[in-house]
Amino acid sequence: MEAKVKDRIASWSERWNTGNTGWHVAGVNHCLMEYGEALLPSGSRRRVFIPLCGKTVDLKWFYDGGHEVVGVEAVEKCVLEFFAENSLKYVTETLTWAKVFRTECNRLKIYCCDLMDVELEALGKFDAVWDRGSLVAIYEEDRKKYAALMKSLLTPDFKYLLSTLVYTPTESFNGPPRNVPTELVEELYGDVCKVEVLGSQEDEGRAKKWNLKFFTEYIYLLTPKTQ
Ligand SMILES: C[S@@+](CC[C@H](N)C(=O)[O-])C[C@H]1O[C@@H](n2cnc3c(N)ncnc32)[C@H](O)[C@@H]1O
Repeated sequence: MEAKVKDRIASWSERWNTGNTGWHVAGVNHCLMEYGEALLPSGSRRRVFIPLCGKTVDLKWFYDGGHEVVGVEAVEKCVLEFFAENSLKYVTETLTWAKVFRTECNRLKIYCCDLMDVELEALGKFDAVWDRGSLVAIYEEDRKKYAALMKSLLTPDFKYLLSTLVYTPTESFNGPPRNVPTELVEELYGDVCKVEVLGSQEDEGRAKKWNLKFFTEYIYLLTPKTQ
């Protein structure tokens, strides 16, 4: 078990160290541009959670929108790059389970640790979640724990925007990013969430790159089941 946990982070650390970070985009994610309104009811300040945040500029996009943003990322190198590349000053704090990097105003915070080790009470609850390159990045065997953890962080009127990828895994490519079909999203979140597909888009470039018949990005809005 211990070896697996070390391996979980080591492979990502290796990717950051060698620049094997093809998922990282320079601009704000296109799904957020298109569907961000569904996540953020206008005029309200939200607490936004970005699991496995890497150094996505989406963190800054939410911050610039006046929201409180919390990310979790295991690899310190990219957390440092995030603050440097976005010209944001930060202070650090060392907890028993994470090193925290935060703006002085405390409105943007990245916990540097394994997501599976977070102290849920310390993170607090979130009105909004932006999950891109996260559920699709984790090991299959971590998925149930991941979904339980995510669901435990939601406020009663949450909105959770989830980006997944669907393809037929082959011997030469089975991720990450991993294949996460709609049935799996339902299985993991359907007990407490209404699962709505907002859109989907073929990515012929990545299908070709990995020699797959198709590679489709899906975007879901998860909301409380009772509403
Ligand atoms: C595919 S990248 C996606 C990053 C970001 N969400 C984006 O859209 O650019 C996955 C990120 O999660 C981090 N990561 C992987 N497993 C993790 C874990 N168990 N806990 C915290 N971070 C993790 C990796 O270092 C990497 O930066």
